Amino acid sequence: SDHELVRSVDLIREVPDFPEPGVLFRDIGPMLSDPAALRAITAALGRGLEFDVVAGVEARGFLLGAAVANQFGTGVIGLRKPGKLPVVADSISYELEYGRASLELPADTLRSGQRVLVVDDVLATGGTLDAACKLIAQAGAEVTAAAVVMELTALEGRSKVADTEIRALLKV
Ligand code: PRP
Ligand code: HPA
Repeated sequence: SDHELVRSVDLIREVPDFPEPGVLFRDIGPMLSDPAALRAITAALGRGLEFDVVAGVEARGFLLGAAVANQFGTGVIGLRKPGKLPVVADSISYELEYGRASLELPADTLRSGQRVLVVDDVLATGGTLDAACKLIAQAGAEVTAAAVVMELTALEGRSKVADTEIRALLKV
C-alpha cells in the first residue's frame, strides 16, 4: 500500500559525514531488514513494468535486484566491479566524480532480445546506471527501465542516462 511504502522510505537512515565530511549518506540497511518494507519496496520497483530478467548493480543493487526478481518470478544478473567475475562477457568503464570505475557483465547470463529491469539503490551522478544500460544494450538486450529507491536530484544524474525510463521511489 501507499502507506506501507511511506513507512518503508522512513526507515532509510541519514548518516552525516559518511563516507567523508560534509556528505549526508542515506543508509537503506534498516529498510531492507524490515520484512514488510522489503516487500513494499521490491513491489514498487517492478510494478507494471515488463521485463524478462533483472540486472542488479554491485553491491546494494544485488540485494534489491534479487528481491525484485524473486517477487516477479524472473532471474537476476549481477553487474560487477572489475576483478570479481571468472568469465566476463563485456566491460565498460565510466567517469566518477573523482576518477574512473568500471562494471562487468557476467558471461552466459543475458540473452539477446531479453527485456531487462536495471535495479540499484541510488541514482547520484548517473554514471553507474548509464554504464549498466550500455552494457545491456551492447549485449543486444533491451533496458525496459531503471528502478532505484532514491534519486539525488541535485546531481542531475537522470540526464546522463539518456533514452531510459527511470523510476525513483524517493527524490531527495
Ligand atoms: C553507489 C550506489 C550506486 C552508485 C550511484 O555505489 O549504490 O551504485 O554509487 O552513483 P552514481 O550515480 O554517481 O554513479 P558504490 O559505488 O558506493 O558501491 P557499493 O554499492 O558497492 O558500495
Ligand atoms: N546513499 C547510498 N549510496 C550513495 C549515496 C547515499 O546517500 N550517495 C551516493 N551514493
